[in-house]
Amino acid sequence: MTGSVRLETDRLVIEPLVETDIPTFVAYRRDPAVARYQSWGDDFSVADAEALIAGQPATFPLPGQWVQLALRPRGPAGDASPVLLGDIAIGGDAVQPDTFELGVTIAPAHQGAGLAREALEAAIEHLFFARGAHRVLMQGDARNEPVLRLMRRLGLRHEGSIFEGDWFKGEWTTLERFALLRREWSAR
Ligand SMILES: CC(C)(COP(=O)(O)OP(=O)(O)OC[C@H]1O[C@@H](n2cnc3c(N)ncnc32)[C@H](O)[C@@H]1OP(=O)(O)O)[C@@H](O)C(=O)NCCC(=O)NCCS
Repeated sequence: MTGSVRLETDRLVIEPLVETDIPTFVAYRRDPAVARYQSWGDDFSVADAEALIAGQPATFPLPGQWVQLALRPRGPAGDASPVLLGDIAIGGDAVQPDTFELGVTIAPAHQGAGLAREALEAAIEHLFFARGAHRVLMQGDARNEPVLRLMRRLGLRHEGSIFEGDWFKGEWTTLERFALLRREWSAR
């Protein structure tokens, strides 16, 4: 599977993160409330962002790869403003074929407007119907209420709790896993 990802929704253009996004990307990643349940800390740096962007696959992610996509306001003609509202990540499962994991971050100033849901719905639709995905999954810290609400609102099926099974930022934490098969998404 090749070709980079560019998606449009009513309000968004979704396309690979680029170097000009770095100041905004770093600013929201360093926000302690944003970093709290994520793999990075509030010391996320410009060098970290540069390495992430330089290490991105130029095409759709192969098994074991992740691609980070910028969410930008969409103009009336489908053009993308250079503004960065947040990002989603698509990861190709390293073991199971046609299986993808999604992640999402919205900059604090743009949370609470349904942008995460809008972006993830477009990504799920794209994965199932343009990329032949069989299964899409997401996971979140059990204390991260906004992401749990989001996964339920998206219609993902709760698959289980990894109860105090994740050593994360100095403590045992619980992960809630959600997933969806293509046929379940089609039957919504
Ligand atoms: C989790 C996170 C991505 C949610 O982002 P978001 O854009 O606020 O999420 P949603 O798209 O679900 O929108 C949330 C709210 O907008 C409201 N909303 C407002 N206008 C809306 C619209 N036009 N359409 C849909 N919802 C709208 C929804 O009702 C919802 O309210 P609620 O959460 O109080 O029930 C965000 O809080 C975040 O980035 N957190 C930090 C990073 C993180 O933890 N990410 C998850 C890692 S797995």
